[in-house]
Amino acid sequence: MNAPASSAVQTVLQGRALEASSFVQWREAARELLRAGVPPEAVTWGAPGGDLFSGAPAPESPPHNAAIQLQEPKPAPHLPRSLLEMLQSAACYREADRSLLPWSFLYRVLWRWQQGEHDVQSPADPDGARLHAMVKAVRREEHDMHAYIRFRERPIEAGAPRFVAWFEPRHDVLPQVAEHFVSRMGKVSWMIATPEASVLWDGSTLHNCGPLMSSAADLDDSGEALWLTYYRSIFNPARLNTSVMQSHIPSRFWKNLPEGALVPSLVSQAGLGARRIGQVQAVGRRSGATIPIAPEAAQPERQQPSKLDECRRCELWEHATQAVGGAGPKRAPIMIVGEQPGDQEDLAGAPFVGPAGKLLDQVFEQAGLDRKSVYLTNAVKHFKWEPRGKRRLHKTPVQREIEACHYWLEKELAACKPKVIVAMGATALKSVMQEKNVTLKDTLGRPVRHGDSWVVTIYHPSYVLRVPDEASKHEAFSVMVKGLRLAQELLERPDLSEPPQ
Ligand code: URA
Repeated sequence: MNAPASSAVQTVLQGRALEASSFVQWREAARELLRAGVPPEAVTWGAPGGDLFSGAPAPESPPHNAAIQLQEPKPAPHLPRSLLEMLQSAACYREADRSLLPWSFLYRVLWRWQQGEHDVQSPADPDGARLHAMVKAVRREEHDMHAYIRFRERPIEAGAPRFVAWFEPRHDVLPQVAEHFVSRMGKVSWMIATPEASVLWDGSTLHNCGPLMSSAADLDDSGEALWLTYYRSIFNPARLNTSVMQSHIPSRFWKNLPEGALVPSLVSQAGLGARRIGQVQAVGRRSGATIPIAPEAAQPERQQPSKLDECRRCELWEHATQAVGGAGPKRAPIMIVGEQPGDQEDLAGAPFVGPAGKLLDQVFEQAGLDRKSVYLTNAVKHFKWEPRGKRRLHKTPVQREIEACHYWLEKELAACKPKVIVAMGATALKSVMQEKNVTLKDTLGRPVRHGDSWVVTIYHPSYVLRVPDEASKHEAFSVMVKGLRLAQELLERPDLSEPPQ
C-alpha cells in the first residue's frame, strides 16, 4: 500500500555515536519504524555521512518516503538481550571513513528479526556474519584502549584534570572505556581526548565534551621521563620477539605510547648483541669456568642453596627462565626421570608440559598408568639451550652439569623413596645410577637394582618424536609402553628380589 509519510520515517539521526544517546535515539526511531511497518529499503538514515553498507552517498536533505511500500503495522519486537547487546556494540563500529554510520544495516537486522528471520543473529547468515565481525572489532578496540592508553600526570592546577590521555580509537568506544576508568581510578580527576570527542572525570561526574585536542603532542609530558626510565629498565633484549611484540601491540598504538619512541633503538641494540648480553646479565654474573664442587663446599655462607631456584652449582641457571622441579605425589611408588626441562617447561615451571610431555601422556595411557600417581622429574633442572633464529633449541647437558644437578635429584629420591625409578634416556640413567659407563642399550627391558629401588630404562619421549620413519617410531613407542608396564609389575613384587621375566 502507498502511505503518507509518517513522522517516524522522517527521522534523521545525526549519528554522533560518541553521544551516549545516539544508540538510544536510533533504537527509539527504529521502534517507531517497525511499528509503522516501514521496511529497511524505505528508510534513509541521513546525515552527516551516509549508509555504511549501501555505498550510496548520503542525501543532503531529510529522508522522504513519498512512495514507500509500508507493511501492516506490527507491535515492536521483543528482542533477546544477546541481540540487543550485539546491536549496541555494533553501533560503535566505524568504517575508515568515519562519517559512514551503521544505522541502516542495524535496522535491516532488526527488521529481519521482526519478520521471524532469527537466523540474522547467526554467524552463518551474511548479515549475521557482518554483525558478529562488527561486534568483535568493537570489543577488541575496547580491550586495546584499556591496554594501550597512557595517562600523563599533569601539575596540580585548579579545575584541570590531574591525568590526561590521548587515544585514537578505530571505533567509537570512548563512552564505555570512560566508564571503565571511572570504576578504576576513583576520585582522581582525568581526561581522555580523542580526535572526535573527549571525556572528563572531575572525581565525581563524567562530562562528555567535544574534541579538545588534535594530537598527542598537545599533552603535557611531565611524568613521562619517569615512565621511559622504567620502560628502559624492564625491557629485556633476551626475550625480544619483535613479531610477537607487534602482534600484541599493533604498530598504530606505538606512535602514541611514550615508550614507542624508545622501541626502535632498543630493538636494534638487541639485534646488535644486547640479546645475548641480556641473557647472561640477569641476576649477577659469575666469571670463569664452572668447577663441580661438593655440595658442602658450595655457597658456604648458606651451606646449601635452600631453594632450587637459587641454585648456582653450574652455569645453566644464567640462561634459563627458572628452575623446574619435580611434580607429583611426594611419596609416589614410581619416579620417572627425564633429561632436562624443554622450552615450554622452562616457561611454565613444570616438567613435561610440552611436546615430549604430550607423547609421554600417550605412553601413560597405553601402559595403563595414571600420570598423577607418579613423581615426574628431570636429571637437570634448568633448560640448556642455544639460539637458532628466534627459537631456543635444546642442547644436551654435559657430564659436569648432570653431576652438579644430581644433588637435587638425590634429595628428591631420598624424600620420595620410590620402589621403581624409570630413567628415560641416557642422561637420566647416568644421573640415577651415578655411573658414566652404564648405557641404555644394556639396560632396556632389564631392570637393575639401585639401593632399595629398581631402575627401569626406557627411551626418552623426544627420541620417539625424532625418529624419522613410522615403523621405528612405533617400535620405540612400544618399548616405552613395555617399560612402564614393567615398572608397574615390579611394584607388585614386595621383596623386589627378582625382576619379572
Ligand atoms: N624433556 C625432558 O627431559 N623433560 C621435560 O620436562 C621436558 C622435555
